[in-house]
Amino acid sequence: MPIFLDSSDLNEIKKYNKMGIIRGVTTNPTIMVKDGLKTFDEIKERTIEIAKEMNNYPVSVEVLSNEPEIMFKQADEFSNWAHNINIKIPFHGPNGELDNLEIIRRLSDCGIKVNCTAMMNASQCITSALAGAKYVSLFGGRINDMGYNCKWEIRKTRRFLDRYPYENIKIIIGSVREALNISEWLHYGADIITTPPKILEKALVHARTKETVKMFLDDAEKLKKAIK
Ligand code: E4P
Repeated sequence: MPIFLDSSDLNEIKKYNKMGIIRGVTTNPTIMVKDGLKTFDEIKERTIEIAKEMNNYPVSVEVLSNEPEIMFKQADEFSNWAHNINIKIPFHGPNGELDNLEIIRRLSDCGIKVNCTAMMNASQCITSALAGAKYVSLFGGRINDMGYNCKWEIRKTRRFLDRYPYENIKIIIGSVREALNISEWLHYGADIITTPPKILEKALVHARTKETVKMFLDDAEKLKKAIK
């Protein structure tokens, strides 16, 4: 199902989970720092709390190292925190190190679900899917910031994955910057959009809806007065 919350703020997650409109959560180290987490123990505790809150829905937590064997060890450890945790592995390292693909392959062979992240084009998504990722995460806002249009990367990835439906690999589009991204990027073929709470709210609350509901309530007041 299409909407995940891109946050590690438990209160926000609970708020939207109560409405029944989110079907997963994605986090990353930057989100966790922004949400005030400071230590490994706090990351572990919060991730377990989020996984419990989301019950059977997927929760992504990202490895905290670029060292291949530490990545593998962390992925194995984090995936044991809860049954619904999948592991975020960046497509490659900060200097273009491609060792991450082998880690994705090894984790996939161990039955650990990988969300390959920080991807900017369809070629990266296709390659990470071949390596064994179960989620391929495109960073829409960052792609568009570079002057390209992420919807074509979504579309090309969609066309590729649709040839292999039995692999059940999902396109996640993140790096959301505006309310329009949600409907537009889903329209172009993303399976899932992961959005920060503040942008989800912007997409849901509409000035004309507020105005219309106020009109209904004003008239309802008149009817209440009419009822003896
Ligand atoms: C999603 O999983 C990504 O980690 C996140 O959306 C990235 O957003 P940013 O490009 O605003 O950092």
